[in-house]
Amino acid sequence: AAAVFQTRRSYHEKDNRPRNVGSMNKTDTDVGTGLVGAPACGDVMKLQIRVDPKDNTISEVKFKTFGCGSAIASSSYLTELVRGMSLEDAARIRNTEIAKELCLPPVKLHCSMLAEDAIKSAISNYYTKNPKTATTNLGGT
Ligand code: FES
Ligand code: FES
Repeated sequence: AAAVFQTRRSYHEKDNRPRNVGSMNKTDTDVGTGLVGAPACGDVMKLQIRVDPKDNTISEVKFKTFGCGSAIASSSYLTELVRGMSLEDAARIRNTEIAKELCLPPVKLHCSMLAEDAIKSAISNYYTKNPKTATTNLGGT
């Protein structure tokens, strides 16, 4: 299993430079902040989105992940994926898509779950700050 894991981590290892690491001012009204933890291991992910209110799309994404390589790769991939996306579409991203793209082994599935939880949490925070723009139902997650 270790050998399989090595090859499958190649996405992250090959270009070992996670994209969009950083933070934004969480008091900005157009910024939504998600902070989530993985009960399985205690790792934590902070994900922030800046939303263009004209069309409800994500114009900027930043993350900080205090966790394993798979969690960092998952959040890095997620930030690339959601930039330019509408909040509606971003809310529909499933961790299985992330896990598939990164070829995460089953034991690392919860790392991609952290990324799904983080984007939902960030969107929900944005809607809390900007209730009038809320068109997406995030329920049932
Ligand atoms: Fe060690 Fe996630 S369990 S970093
Ligand atoms: Fe827990 Fe990766 S987030 S091991």
